[in-house]
Amino acid sequence: MARRPYIVGNWKMHGTRAMLSEARAIDRAAQRHMKVEVALAPPFTLIHPIHREAEQISVGAQDCHHADGGAHTGDISAAMVADAGAKFVILGHSERRTGHGESDALVRAKAAAALAAGLRIIMCCGESGETRESGRAVAFIKKQLKASLPAPADAPADLAERITVAYEPIWAIGTGTAATTADIGEMHGVIRQLLVELYGEEQGREVRIIYGGSVKPDNAAEIFAVPEVSGALVGGASLTADSFMGIALAAGEPSDH
Ligand code: 13P
Repeated sequence: MARRPYIVGNWKMHGTRAMLSEARAIDRAAQRHMKVEVALAPPFTLIHPIHREAEQISVGAQDCHHADGGAHTGDISAAMVADAGAKFVILGHSERRTGHGESDALVRAKAAAALAAGLRIIMCCGESGETRESGRAVAFIKKQLKASLPAPADAPADLAERITVAYEPIWAIGTGTAATTADIGEMHGVIRQLLVELYGEEQGREVRIIYGGSVKPDNAAEIFAVPEVSGALVGGASLTADSFMGIALAAGEPSDH
């Protein structure tokens, strides 16, 4: 791959200011591993403090509202997270789709708001264990992604720079057991084909597709060796610099890319 692997930590609802030392350690380590693009999505409250100190990593948000502003108690807009220093936002994570009832249409509206605010987006998709067992995983992912990503007519000109897709099978998140390399390879191939159909050969081939779901230092190298895997979205293992940078190191191995 011409582009650097993209390794993103999603801290979810973990982290107070006591975690800033971990973010600093991640930033310092990232300066020594420039072959990999390292990013962190902490809780909203830590975006600005991490952004202020970071020299190498980029900082992002885990969600944003679809409106520019207004009477939305407890919500935060794309412009607000950008103002705090966020360069990207994770959208459509399964924990928001299920925990907050976010529909594909809402996720698409959030994507439009984020892109308009100048942010990059990481668009998540993922099927449940039940959907996979019933043999409908591929059809589900195609439908979910197609309805969540910007429609071709609304996509930004530099979409390959602005959009990353994350495949995160729900049954692999936080379970300690990642999807098999065969399952990852199949689904990333399906997603690549969909991106080409939607955005054309040139742009569709350039959009990065990253995998998430129980990525750890000891399984990262085999996952990164799968065709069409351009990085990882990491939950639990991104909470310490040691394990997170173990994953980033595996992504930077020349034999994998
Ligand atoms: P885990 O790495 O903890 O399985 O979480 C994956 C995830 O949901 C990242 O967004």
